[in-house]
Amino acid sequence: MKKGKLNILILLCNGVLFFTSFSFAEAPIAPREKLLLDFGWSFLLGDINEYNTDFTKGGMVGGKMKDYFGPDFNDSTWRPINLPHDFVVEQQLDKNAQSNSALPDGIAWYRRVFDVSKEDEGKSFILTFDGVCRFSEVFVNGFHVQTHRFGYDVFSVDITEALAYGGENVIMVRVNTLEGAEGWWYEGGGIYRHVWLEKVNAVHIPTYGVAINPELDTSMTKANVQVAVEVKNDGFVAGPVDAVICLKDKNGLKIGESTSAKISIQPGQTTTVNLNIEVNNPELWSPSCPELYSLETTLKQNGEVIDGLVNQIGFRVFKFDTEQGFLVNGKKEILKGVCMHQDHAGVGIAVPDALLWYRLEKLKELGVNAFRSHHPNAPEVAQICNELGILLLAETRHFSSFSESKEMLESMVRVERNNPCVIAWCLGNEEVILNTPQSVNVVNKMRQIAHTLDPQKRPVTLASNRSLNEKAIRELDVIGVNYHTNNLVRKNSYNQPIFSSESGSVVCTRGEYETNEEKRVVSSYDRKGVPWGQSGEELLDFTMNKPEIGGTFYWTGFDYRGEPTPYNWPNVVSNFGLYDLCGFRKDLSYLFEASWSDHEVLHVFPHWNWEDSGKDSIDVWVYSTYDEVELLLNGESLGKQQMPKYKHVEWMVKYQPGELVAKAYRNGKVVKEQVVITAGDPQNIKIEPHKKSLIANEQDVISFEVSIMDKDMVFCPNADNLLKFTLSGPARMLGVGNGSPISHETDKLPMRRTFHGKAVVIIQATKEPGDVVLTVTSPDLKEVSYTIKSIAPNEISPRVPSKITEVELMKFYPKSERSGDSVNVSKGPQSLEEMYKETAGYSLDSIK
Ligand code: GAL
Repeated sequence: MKKGKLNILILLCNGVLFFTSFSFAEAPIAPREKLLLDFGWSFLLGDINEYNTDFTKGGMVGGKMKDYFGPDFNDSTWRPINLPHDFVVEQQLDKNAQSNSALPDGIAWYRRVFDVSKEDEGKSFILTFDGVCRFSEVFVNGFHVQTHRFGYDVFSVDITEALAYGGENVIMVRVNTLEGAEGWWYEGGGIYRHVWLEKVNAVHIPTYGVAINPELDTSMTKANVQVAVEVKNDGFVAGPVDAVICLKDKNGLKIGESTSAKISIQPGQTTTVNLNIEVNNPELWSPSCPELYSLETTLKQNGEVIDGLVNQIGFRVFKFDTEQGFLVNGKKEILKGVCMHQDHAGVGIAVPDALLWYRLEKLKELGVNAFRSHHPNAPEVAQICNELGILLLAETRHFSSFSESKEMLESMVRVERNNPCVIAWCLGNEEVILNTPQSVNVVNKMRQIAHTLDPQKRPVTLASNRSLNEKAIRELDVIGVNYHTNNLVRKNSYNQPIFSSESGSVVCTRGEYETNEEKRVVSSYDRKGVPWGQSGEELLDFTMNKPEIGGTFYWTGFDYRGEPTPYNWPNVVSNFGLYDLCGFRKDLSYLFEASWSDHEVLHVFPHWNWEDSGKDSIDVWVYSTYDEVELLLNGESLGKQQMPKYKHVEWMVKYQPGELVAKAYRNGKVVKEQVVITAGDPQNIKIEPHKKSLIANEQDVISFEVSIMDKDMVFCPNADNLLKFTLSGPARMLGVGNGSPISHETDKLPMRRTFHGKAVVIIQATKEPGDVVLTVTSPDLKEVSYTIKSIAPNEISPRVPSKITEVELMKFYPKSERSGDSVNVSKGPQSLEEMYKETAGYSLDSIK
């Protein structure tokens, strides 16, 4: 399995070989250019006085705002940044912030200057935002080119006529998160996903304009790849073109090709060309063996390629079934899914692709084979799922068939439809209007919208938290049930296939073993966490043993900001994750790994440092896949127990410091041991990167796990040392974290206390190769450094050149610097320590 990035081998039919190590949802074929516009932006937190929404002079901005687009504009008070960017996570937590996360919402501006050459006149320029949260207004050279209200969907605008050819051009984007929240979790704010500038021939394939149906026959040995290609003529002369499709296997070998009859498209028109390729014995895509093919679509004029795109496809048959739940290629496949929100420690919602990989690979490690969010994801999520073999439930944010909400559904279907991982279109989550006649009409209209764009006609579903008798639920192709397991039993006599779209919501704080309202933490022993949820053991037992249920999506894979449960402020992060916000494992994740993956698992917990706890006996739990487990304390056996499936075994152990050993038996023989040792005082620091090297492409990221150890390098499970991080060499710090649900420290200063012995530092490569050195210091601990190589890439993703090279990725806006929506720049910078003091530690004393 390839790791850490998408390696797309693009072998064009004419024999030209490209090897790229960057991700593209839709890779371009030359002369089409898809340029990354993530680098070299200027950023201003707060509004600009000159902003006005009068359009008295056509679509141009008037008055003084014009100056922002002029060559003399002085942006020295703006901050140079790269995307993705989340400005909300850069703020100080504030109990009174009117947001879902106690992080203040706001207004902000982004500005980017770029050159367009004279030779490019006559081409079309398409600007695509993969996600801007939220309410964005896009201006190009003073033209108001787009307003986009919502925060989760991809949107594009053709800016051809607004550009100055042979000169400088300016894009400005205003983002406003003060209104129009779309969720009850942390939503963040800013241009937080990629931005692209596509340069295409006037006659071209619109962005996401290829719809592919790789249909298998019933024997699954033959397939017919049906391709609908949109061709658009934005020029002023009729364009006679041929459309050509070419299918390649994963080694770049050509499997088949097909060419259309000549098409003549009148200026201003768009037409659709249908083509197909027959394939014998295709390798099938499945979660355990995600075989991918690529389909190149090109437009040719007089034999020359004028435009083209590459899409990843896969051959597979999905079926939701009333008797057998869910099937992939005719075989039952239980959905072992997780629900996820998109924010991560250190970066908020601005999650670079390499971190998306990190998160999805971590889930795959547990045996997760399915993924669900409450909204459309970054296009890279589906690509990574294609590669890793994770099934994707593609969900739109609004249960609505109207206006911009309809556009969101359309955008999601266009962006996601060719990905083999997508199993169904999910129309909503826990909607309250499901028993009205209107809701029936909305379901049917939304299905029609999805099916018009999706040639695979995937089923529509909805995650319902209500009675199955509700009118709209009876209209769905597949029923999704959140939590109510009583709805998942046959006696309800539903006629549709059914699956558990959400379950669990177990709350566990990493490293805590006693629920304590005063400390605002919840125990890691798997107990039913919320009144509407189930324990991990209950839900696994239920969903793994009911053949007619398609499986489940556990709430959640990772912790996320906002919706702190079961305690609200001063808690600021949820406790639902199998991993915490940094990606550190919680004990419960081992139950899922034991139940869902094919790995052998042996995990004993808790830690063995109870000397100051006043506790006499400690409840020791073990998760394992082995037949039996024996527990020993300081060499003395405490007994052997048979391991039940989907459950734990436990011992009440009288505490004495030393060595707790779990021995796993298979066929009566000890085959594995796990030892937990009582740690001494913190003395050392251990640094572990999540991968061996960086790629010097300005995008790649490494997450360093930093742990506190005693003199013998035994992990100190209760350490809360304050760490300071410095970096030298060609990399930048993106953020820090410790996974605590109650830490009020900012993720945007190079200082952090460990929470239960651990913290994380996330760094990003610059474009220079070389040695990167991370040094961690702490008052009472031995300083430690870790050197990692940043390696020159074979090739970097083509990008729009920028004059800004030095950027500021880690920035913290303390409350004392803010007034209303703007920042008091005159206050000047404070020292690192001063700023750190403005935030609070995770101890309750400091946040009261
Ligand atoms: C569900 C809801 C999720 C989350 C979860 C917490 O009902 O769909 O968004 O709020 O509860 O348990």
